[in-house]
Amino acid sequence: MTISKLLCGDRVRLTALNTSDLPTLVHWFEDAEFMRLYDARPARPKSEAELGRWLEELHKAKDDFAFAVRPLDSQDLIGYVELDGILWPHGVCGFSIGIGERSHWGQGYGYEAARLALAFAFDELNLHRVTATVFSYNKRSIALFEKLGFQREGAFREFLQRDGKRYDMLLYGLLKHEWEAGSEQ
Ligand SMILES: CC(C)(COP(=O)(O)OP(=O)(O)OC[C@H]1O[C@@H](n2cnc3c(N)ncnc32)[C@H](O)[C@@H]1OP(=O)(O)O)[C@@H](O)C(=O)NCCC(=O)NCCS
Repeated sequence: MTISKLLCGDRVRLTALNTSDLPTLVHWFEDAEFMRLYDARPARPKSEAELGRWLEELHKAKDDFAFAVRPLDSQDLIGYVELDGILWPHGVCGFSIGIGERSHWGQGYGYEAARLALAFAFDELNLHRVTATVFSYNKRSIALFEKLGFQREGAFREFLQRDGKRYDMLLYGLLKHEWEAGSEQ
C-alpha cells in the first residue's frame, strides 16, 4: 500500500498557524488591497489581540481546517489556506486562500498551496465538493481557480460595492471526480 505524501509540495508546505505568526497576519490585514481582494467585509486593520482570539477559536473548530503556507526550508509565513464550514453529512466545504506579500504573488505559491489544501480536502477528509467565491475584479484569483479545475457555477450579481461601483461575486465549485481527473493529467 502506498500512502502518498500530504501537506508538502516542491516549494511550500502546509503547517499549523501559531501565535508567533500573529505579527505577520497583523501586517497583511493592514494592506487594504489584500483585504479587498480577500474579504467582502470592511477592509480594516486588526490588532494582534483580536487575531489571537480568532486563532484560538480556529484551533477549537471541528468543521474548519486552516493552515499556514511556509517555504520548505523556513518558518516564514507566506500565506494562509482554509477549508471552512464543512458539512460532514454532505461532504462539502468552502475554500479560501491568501498569499500575504505582493512580492510573493504570481510566483506559483498560491497554486501549489491550493493544490495541497485540495488534496487534503479530497484525499484526507474525503470530501466530495469544495466551493469558492471570487470577486469579479480579482483577475489573478479567477485565473488561479480556473487553473485548479474549478467550474464557474454562477454569480451573485452586484454583490459588492467598492469605490461607488458594484461588482459580481463569482461562484466556483470543484467536485472530487473533477479533481481526480485533473490530477491524473
Ligand atoms: C490569488 C492568489 C492566492 C494567487 O496566488 P499566486 O501565488 O499569486 O498565484 P500563482 O503564482 O500560483 O498563479 C496561479 C495562476 O494565476 C494566474 N496569474 C498569476 N499572476 C497573474 C496576474 N498578474 N494576472 C492574472 N493572472 C495571474 C495565472 O493563471 C497563474 O497560472 P500560470 O502561472 O500557470 O499562468 C494571491 O495572488 C493572493 O493571495 N492575492 C491576494 C488575496 C486574494 O486575492 N485571495 C483570493 C481570494 S478568492
